[in-house]
Amino acid sequence: MTEPVLDVHLTPEDAAVALRAEALEGLTARPKWVSPKWFYDAVGSDLFEDITRLPEYYPTRAEREILDARAAEIAATTGAHTLVELGSGSSEKTRLLLSALRDHGTLHEFVPLDVSPSALTDAAHAILADYPGLKVHGVVGDFTEHLGLLPGTAPRLVAFLGGTIGNLIPEEREKFFSSVRDVLDPGEWLLLGTDLVKDPDVLVRAYDDAAGVTAEFNRNVLRVINRELAADFEPDAFEHVALWNAEQEWIEMRLRARRAVTAHVTALGVDVAFEEGEDLRTEVSAKFRRERVESELTAAGFELHRWWTDSQGRFALSLARVA
Ligand code: AVJ
Repeated sequence: MTEPVLDVHLTPEDAAVALRAEALEGLTARPKWVSPKWFYDAVGSDLFEDITRLPEYYPTRAEREILDARAAEIAATTGAHTLVELGSGSSEKTRLLLSALRDHGTLHEFVPLDVSPSALTDAAHAILADYPGLKVHGVVGDFTEHLGLLPGTAPRLVAFLGGTIGNLIPEEREKFFSSVRDVLDPGEWLLLGTDLVKDPDVLVRAYDDAAGVTAEFNRNVLRVINRELAADFEPDAFEHVALWNAEQEWIEMRLRARRAVTAHVTALGVDVAFEEGEDLRTEVSAKFRRERVESELTAAGFELHRWWTDSQGRFALSLARVA
């Protein structure tokens, strides 16, 4: 069997340095914050998989419905030779796209990009086993920083699914769309998944499920910080909070101190003190309307070619072409 190739743009040391710098900034800021990218250690990735199966968490199912219906059309429209996937490279959704491109007869190469080398290696082997002859060229990197040297022959289709774009605030999105645009040539493609603005109760329930899985996922970020930065946060001293910010049109997840707590963060040489009721902000998950997606893509130099939603209008897939 052919072996996957792996380019490493982000080493574990780079990731550790980035976590230290960001954690110091966020934990000493007011309000305090940490980046959602630290949710996804092995435990956090498993918890996220559990979230995708919760009755309240509709985005994964809604996006799959759209891909099921449109993968063949995406393959025929793009005729892509290379599928680049930003974020996870193992999912069922990736396979829907790969199979459609293979059936269309244009697929040569799969380029998954992820921060985790182990997740990437596992995914690359699993994909290779099911798509014999496919060239798999993984890139270990952070999609906000390491798009510079995307392998693969044109036309490439860059897929950024799941609504993860919602983790970026508007300035970060602008930078992200421009950097994707910059690595592509005219006529190449971006497939973007976005969760849509809807009834706030439905949104809040999706991020504060009855079984408490999202609460555990949220608190797990403190376990990651404890392990990576030799800190002693007590996850159970924090309550999970999910709220709808109507002005920004995003969900915010926070961890709220149930009482006054102080944690020592050895690797940073700081004590972090929370008053009772004080929040640590852990994630924003922006929700979109078509006009916003279209205007942000257009501003970056894309043309919105197709816009599809699921049958209930909860989630959208945009297919955009470099103008
Ligand atoms: C993986 C970023 C798309 O924002 O819905 C799920 C992460 N956070 N439940 C999202 C998440 C809480 C998820 N993304």
